[in-house]
Amino acid sequence: MEQNRPQWGSRAGFIMAAVGSAVGLGNIWRFPAVAYENGGGAFFLPYLFALLTAGIPLLIMEFTMGHKYRGSAPLTMTRINRKSEWLGWWQLAISFFIATYYSVIIAWATSYSFFSFTKSWGNAPQDFLLGEYLQVGEPGQLGGFAGGVLLPLLLVWIVTLGIMFSGVKKGIEAATKFMLPLLVILFFIVVVRALTLPGAVEGLNAFFQPDWSKISDGKVWIAAYGQIFFSLSVGFAIMITYSSYLPKKADITNNAFITAFANSSFELLAGFGVFAALGFMAQQQGVAVEEVVSSGIILAFAVFPQIINEFPVASGFFGFLFFISLTLAGLTSLISIIETFVAGLQEKFNISRTVSVAVGGGLSALISLLYATKGGLFFLDTVDHFINLYGIVFAGFVEVILVAWVFKELDSLKQHADAVSDIKLGAWWKFCLMILTPIVLAYMMFDNIRQDLSTPYEDYPLSFLITYGWGTAALAIIIGVVFMFIKPLSRNSKEGL
Ligand code: ALA
Repeated sequence: MEQNRPQWGSRAGFIMAAVGSAVGLGNIWRFPAVAYENGGGAFFLPYLFALLTAGIPLLIMEFTMGHKYRGSAPLTMTRINRKSEWLGWWQLAISFFIATYYSVIIAWATSYSFFSFTKSWGNAPQDFLLGEYLQVGEPGQLGGFAGGVLLPLLLVWIVTLGIMFSGVKKGIEAATKFMLPLLVILFFIVVVRALTLPGAVEGLNAFFQPDWSKISDGKVWIAAYGQIFFSLSVGFAIMITYSSYLPKKADITNNAFITAFANSSFELLAGFGVFAALGFMAQQQGVAVEEVVSSGIILAFAVFPQIINEFPVASGFFGFLFFISLTLAGLTSLISIIETFVAGLQEKFNISRTVSVAVGGGLSALISLLYATKGGLFFLDTVDHFINLYGIVFAGFVEVILVAWVFKELDSLKQHADAVSDIKLGAWWKFCLMILTPIVLAYMMFDNIRQDLSTPYEDYPLSFLITYGWGTAALAIIIGVVFMFIKPLSRNSKEGL
């Protein structure tokens, strides 16, 4: 199997795939709203801190782990220490859960790309989104399918699994090489147009206006770390898997910096575009920008359609560009999320890629139907909140503790990275991973749990939160442990290393 390990066709191919994974729904709809809610201009301080002290060091660590041990997350962890295979499976389970709802948001974006031409959302886009389109019911109740979501969801899965069946080079690399440049061009057009709209400057002012009172709030820092991890695709097995397909002679550290800066630049670009457009809308309605900003899903799927309604010329076309950008950004990330468990299952059970995609991808497609029901939005919102904080961030924390403290791997990883990279790692890298990041993350986890226990998330019923929120986060860990015991990975399989 080792001899047949797939490989990226070129350095550019790998970088594009990694950037394609990083740049996703998180950049376009998550970042602008998170930044705004957490202090606007003042958010950039925690954001940069989290990026430089945790995001980039962890990205370098994951790239090096994948490159050195040449395996999906479970195999990589097994090769570091056989007792830690469960951590790899836990991260894979997190990715699996994310894939189930991430695909649904892409499906909405696909629908909205087409809705743009006829402005099917009418004059009250929020009513349309929650009523006619998603047919939102009660938390915890399925209430049948929201019919309009099924077809685009099917389309998303056909395209995604089609790419996955084609393999790493012919599927993922080829698709990203096409989709990522297209995304950059289309999104750039949207942003430039937004910046030239009347009122854009007020929007940017509102975005960058620092609210320094927020900076001492622990929640703001938590939000920054959560955003960085999700956005850089670290902590949930993706970058370990992607770098395991690098040839033996391949730069690591420089590639990590390129990936991280490309991702943050795109994030900033999205912030510019979204807030310029919000400034325009506020001016049209004669209200302050604060009154038109909204959180994630509503921002992209209700506020944006409203902005498109008020667009001066070629509104349908710009609406289409925005939503198709969201779709493309989502797809290049979704394939990376799915690759984690496709690779993991293949290595564990020694099955072909086709079987692995069919089983793993098929199962996540099946579960994604849950979010296409009338209660879907509540499931999605809850799973997203809990799987990010008690999945990604928590698993990232456990990962640093195990690799840095328990298995004391950092020195040998540094040696490995330095041997192949242009940029050599300084003492800062080890300090960030051993000391700074564990301390901040430990505090974050503690504070988060305290907050989620004292105030039920979004005031949803407690039983609902326990089953689908805490339950999903716990299930990911349980899956991790169970998979480790199903059939241990071949421990002496070192060939190809
Ligand atoms: N990194 C991906 C995103 O930002 C998952 O959406």
